[in-house]
Amino acid sequence: KNDLEMGFEALRNGEFILVYDDDDREGEVDMIIASEFVTPKSVATMRDNAGGLICNCLAPQYCDAINLPFMTDIMEAASSKYPDLAELAPNDIPYDERSSFSIWVNHRDSFTGVTDHDRAMTISEMAIMLKEERYGDFGKTFRSPGHVCLLRGADGLVKNRRGHTEIGLAMCEMAGVTPVCVVCEMMDSKTGQATSVADAKKYAEENGLVLLKGEDIIKEYLKE
Ligand code: 5RP
Ligand code: CA
Ligand code: ZN
Repeated sequence: KNDLEMGFEALRNGEFILVYDDDDREGEVDMIIASEFVTPKSVATMRDNAGGLICNCLAPQYCDAINLPFMTDIMEAASSKYPDLAELAPNDIPYDERSSFSIWVNHRDSFTGVTDHDRAMTISEMAIMLKEERYGDFGKTFRSPGHVCLLRGADGLVKNRRGHTEIGLAMCEMAGVTPVCVVCEMMDSKTGQATSVADAKKYAEENGLVLLKGEDIIKEYLKE
């Protein structure tokens, strides 16, 4: 089996994959897992071994179905009432043209929302709601603000944006799992910088995980 096939299998088994986006982009390795399988233990693993932001990426068709805007659209709409917000427009991101950030949510059965238990519930129940096409349940099931950031995948995924958001969702699609996935950047506490590819490779080997390159995933997706 090649690395990509191992990655698909890992996602179907509810295991992590590691993905390096690109030298020309963030130059970061994210831990990625299919959201429908996320447990409190998965959240703890990301906190302990990745340490970046734990975000839930949603496929664009799901975002359309629940009318989920990008945060930039919300800020723009709000700036008629709060004009100073307009100045915060993210028009100078050094590695990309746009951000995939949307709103932050908690499952309504959460207490604070930040515990491993609460975040796992928020993440997995979102995937299950979307998988079951219960779109009308969005606001009934979740409240905002919350402790899990939603990321909106670009239309056409990696055809239009090549972030971990789209790369992770493309992996889910190709693996045949619900296209909702968690991404969390691997951070190095010693250097205060992103974990190097060499260290991520070591972590992958020690933990039986596959480390994939964004460009290989993009190439495969564009083939389909
Ligand atoms: C959220 C992020 C991460 O970089 C994450 O990988 C998603 O963003 P992108 O699609 O831009 O790579 O900023 O913590
Ligand atoms: Ca980022
Ligand atoms: Zn990223």
